[in-house]
Formats: sequence, structure tokens, C-alpha cells
Amino acid sequence: MDLSVLHKLTYGMYAVGTLDGIRPAGCIVNTVIQVTSDNPVIAVSMNKNNFTYEAIKKSGRFSISILSEAVERNVIAELGFACGRKMDKFCGKNFACGVLDGLPIVKEHACGYMVCDVIAMHDAETHCVIMARLTKTLGGTDEPPMTYEYYHNVIKGKAPKNAPTYQVEVPKSEKQAQLRYICEVCGYIYEGDITKEADDYVCPVCKQPKSRFKRM
Ligand SMILES: Cc1cc2nc3c(=O)[nH]c(=O)nc-3n(C[C@H](O)[C@H](O)[C@H](O)COP(=O)(O)O)c2cc1C
Repeated sequence: MDLSVLHKLTYGMYAVGTLDGIRPAGCIVNTVIQVTSDNPVIAVSMNKNNFTYEAIKKSGRFSISILSEAVERNVIAELGFACGRKMDKFCGKNFACGVLDGLPIVKEHACGYMVCDVIAMHDAETHCVIMARLTKTLGGTDEPPMTYEYYHNVIKGKAPKNAPTYQVEVPKSEKQAQLRYICEVCGYIYEGDITKEADDYVCPVCKQPKSRFKRM
């Protein structure tokens, strides 16, 4: 089956924030949809391996920050590629964090916020579709919301394994396969000879220097 047709589905970019007890947790998702309009219900597809999934199962609540195109790249690097099991991703060290109704949110460059109460969790094999009712909304910046297409085409970002839209990349040739480097911080893959880049080259996703790339 040719799965490339799935690349034509469109999405946005969101940060989910929840609590593990009193500790903030959360991750990046691209799979938020509005399900109903009356007393609105939304749905999110969440990988069962994500720490955020465990925390939402326990707390029954989460926030959604709708990320704008100008969002600090650290937000995506921290929330989208690191796991909150062993670290506090909302500590405010790597990007500005806020709190809404007791839940962690991305404070800057978010177009708006939603606070949600879980009403159902539907099994979807590797993932779980979380249905939740909106209990509060809050406006944010007027900057354009970041689409998944913008993330891929402008920021040149990738989706990690836990994202429902992840697809294994097949190198075009043996030669190309020999010249791939991974950013140790966010997982961005550089194809080609990175040594030929200028000394001030930085990772397009998390802005780490060339020295943080490892040959794959
Ligand atoms: C662009 C992008 C989109 C993502 N979309 C989803 C998604 O829709 N659902 C999901 O479960 N994980 C998604 N992820 C992956 C999680 O953000 C990632 O696995 C994160 O490290 C989980 O952190 P946690 O273990 O602290 O919950 C996405 C990541 C990125 C970078």
C-alpha cells in the first residue's frame, strides 16, 4: 500500500500540557481535531508510550497551546523529542512557560489555549484517541498558527517515532545513506555532508551548533 497519500492530510502544531501529580508533563502533537461544536469536544491521538499519555490517564485533564509560526524552536525540541519521565520539560529553562487552570502551557507565541476534561479514551493499537470536553478557552497572539506543512517545509522539522504521522525514511541511494547526521538534541536528520556547512550552521529545529550532530 502506498502510504504517501497520507502526507496530503493537513494538521496543526500543538503543545499538550498536563500533570503527573503536581509535576508538569506534556508533549507536542499535530493531531488535535474539533469533534463537536455544541459544548465542544476535541480529540487527540496520543502514543501509549508517551509519558504524557500516562499522566493524562491519571489526571483526566490537559491543556492545549496552539503554536504560532514564531514559537521558540526549543518548544518543539523539548516537548516533541524528549521524554518527561525523567525530566521536567516545563521548568521554564528552555522556553517561557505559564499556567492556565493549574495546567502547564507555552506562554509565548501561542495563538490560543484550551483547557480540556477527558470524557473517553478509545484504544487505537499503538495510540489512544483521547476525547475531551473544552472547559475553558483563552486567546493568544495574532501570529499565524503553525501548520504541520510549515513545520516540515519551512522549519525542515521531522516527526519522531511516537507521532502518528511518522514514516520510516528510505535513503535514496547508498551514498546518501552514508552521509546522514542526527541532531543529538532534537533528532533532526541532516542529509549530506554537514562538514561542508559554515561553522555557524545551527540545527533548523532546536538551534544547536554543528558539533551536536552525530554521523548515523
Ligand atoms: C511535529 C511532531 C508531531 C507529533 N505529534 C504527535 C501526536 O500527534 N501524538 C503523539 O502521541 N505524539 C506526537 N509527537 C511525539 C511526542 O511529542 C514525543 O514522543 C514526545 O517526546 C513525548 O514526550 P513524553 O514522553 O514526555 O510524553 C509529535 C512530535 C513532533 C515533533
